[in-house]
Order: sequence, then C-alpha cells, then structure tokens
Amino acid sequence: MQELWRRVAVSPGKAILFGEHAVVYGYPAVSLAIDLPTTTVVRAFDRETSTLDGSEEGFQRIPYLVQALRSTSAKGIDVSIRSSLPRASGLGSSAAVTSGLLMALTSKNASSSDPATLAARSYEVEFAAQGVGSPADTSTLCAGGVVSIGGSGYGKNLWQIPPMNHRGPWKVDRLPDPGWSWVVAYTGIPKATGKVVSAVGQAVGAGKTDVLERIGALAERGIAAIFRADRDEVGKLMNENHRLLAELGVSSPRIEEIIEAVRSETLGVKITGAGKGGSVLALARPGEESRVAHLFAQVGTVPFVVRVSSSGVRLQLSGPTSPTGASPAPPSS
Ligand code: PMV
Repeated sequence: MQELWRRVAVSPGKAILFGEHAVVYGYPAVSLAIDLPTTTVVRAFDRETSTLDGSEEGFQRIPYLVQALRSTSAKGIDVSIRSSLPRASGLGSSAAVTSGLLMALTSKNASSSDPATLAARSYEVEFAAQGVGSPADTSTLCAGGVVSIGGSGYGKNLWQIPPMNHRGPWKVDRLPDPGWSWVVAYTGIPKATGKVVSAVGQAVGAGKTDVLERIGALAERGIAAIFRADRDEVGKLMNENHRLLAELGVSSPRIEEIIEAVRSETLGVKITGAGKGGSVLALARPGEESRVAHLFAQVGTVPFVVRVSSSGVRLQLSGPTSPTGASPAPPSS
C-alpha cells in the first residue's frame, strides 16, 4: 500500500476565561489558546477506508474525525493523534483534533491555509459532530493567542463565523496577551459538552436567561480588564463568573471542593469549559503559579501551569513521501 502524502498539524489547547455557555446564545466570551499541544499526523494511502492508528473501527468511533473527513473529498487516510490534553477535559481536545485534521486535509503547505476559512469549517464540523455549541473552541485554536468571541468590538476583528441553527453570527476579535502564566487543573471527571449544553438550554428555556445576560456583561468587563492587563480585576471577575456558572447549574460538589481548596490562595478561580467535570482555571498572584499547582495536586486534580500560545493550529512539516520524491497534494475542497 503506497503512502501518497503525509501532513502533521499541531494545535494548541484552549481555556475559556469568561463567558462559557452564554457564548452559545451570542453573549461575549474570552478565550485563551494555551501551550498544551496536540499533534495530528495524517497519512493518505491509495485505498478506500480510513483508520485511526490503523483501526477502522477506532476511526468510526470518533465523530469529529468522521465529520471532518465527510466535509472534504478525502478518503483512505490514517490519523494518529498525540496530545498533552486529557480527553474530555474542557481544554479543547476535540477542537484540536477537528482543526488539525481539517488543516492537514485542506492545506498543501504551511502558507496555503487561511485561518478564517479553517475556523469556519472547523466549527461546522464540530457542530455536526456535537449537535450543539458555539465556535469559541475552534476559533480560539485557529487564531491562537487571546480572543473574544461575540464581543462588542474592542479588539482587532479577525473573522466572523456565520449563524448556525438560528444562533450567531459570532465576531472573533484579537485581544492582547497580558503575558501571565495560568494554572489549569483537570478534575479527572470527563465532561460531556453536548449533555451539559443541552441541560443549560433547558434551564434557559425555563427562564434562566438573566444569568446569561449577567455572564455576558461580565465578559465585556473582562475584555476591558484584559486590555488594561489588570490582573486583580481579571481574578475578581473569574470568581464572579464561577458563581454565575454555579447558578446556571454546571458546577458540582466535587468542583466546589476543588475550588474551595485553592480560592483564598489565588486571585481568581473558575470552571473552564462546559463544567460538571472537566477542568478549572486559576489566576495566581505573580510567581505563585507552582504553589497553586501544588495545592491543586493535593486535592487530587491534574494541574498544568500554562502560558498563552501565540500560535494557532499550524502545519508542521510536509515531506515528500512518494518514491519519486513528489508529494501529491491532498484534496483541497
Ligand atoms: O467543550 P468545552 O468543555 O470546551 O466547552 C465549550 C464551552 C461551551 O460554552 C460550554 C460550549 C460552546 O460550544 O461554546
């Protein structure tokens, strides 16, 4: 079986700083691309079936892979994923795989990919696989750095994601990176974004819209605080955002236990992502990140001290792999 081409895409992880859940309804959010990379190696062969690490069944079990392939004219690929992200941790593993695979399938080389197009396509694929959600994760990974999604226009506009199922559009803007380290801690409890987002949908249907409005207003203040690099204010807003997420019903006794264990030792700490498991994000006082990470470890979570990744999803290398030295182009539809 001849290998036709090979592409390697590297994606950062992400942590939502403000506005998860509310962003699904068009309220603003702020999100960070973080330096926890996922590497997706894609090889194309002259065959019909596609595999994950050689397994056809493994490939079919991951809806993000199936949908990404369906959205291109590619076939006969093998995908191999190496990630520093725990799965279903709220740190962007699904979006990393989606955007990484799409980039590998649609870009001939590192300079031929357009992040705006990739972000729009990645959202379509993630939505098709998940059935709910906003473009927050996929756009953060495609943009890199710090971004607002649906903000009121403080930053430089990067792109706009068209509406999906009567929600949106979402404007994606570049915000400055204040240059701080952050601490994320995986609770060890995998979260199910689709389920939690649907449960929030029911609460919203039953009249909990004021919480979303308050989260949106808070995220706008968060955008201003990021522009001023006002660390104390960002921390304060993170604590407030967590209380609102708890009010929305996406916390749990275990998450509260973890947050309580570190709260007084941080400037701010909150759920990041869908909640009901997944991860929490903390902002420590300058230089105290390792100590906070240690506290997180003591309560049985898996902590990471991270920085913002200025780079979004990118193609790492595309070496010729055919015997002639030519590298046939992957489909670019
Ligand atoms: O899938 P997660 O845990 O990274 O959550 C994404 C953030 C939500 O706002 C809860 C959903 C979404 O699609 O925006």
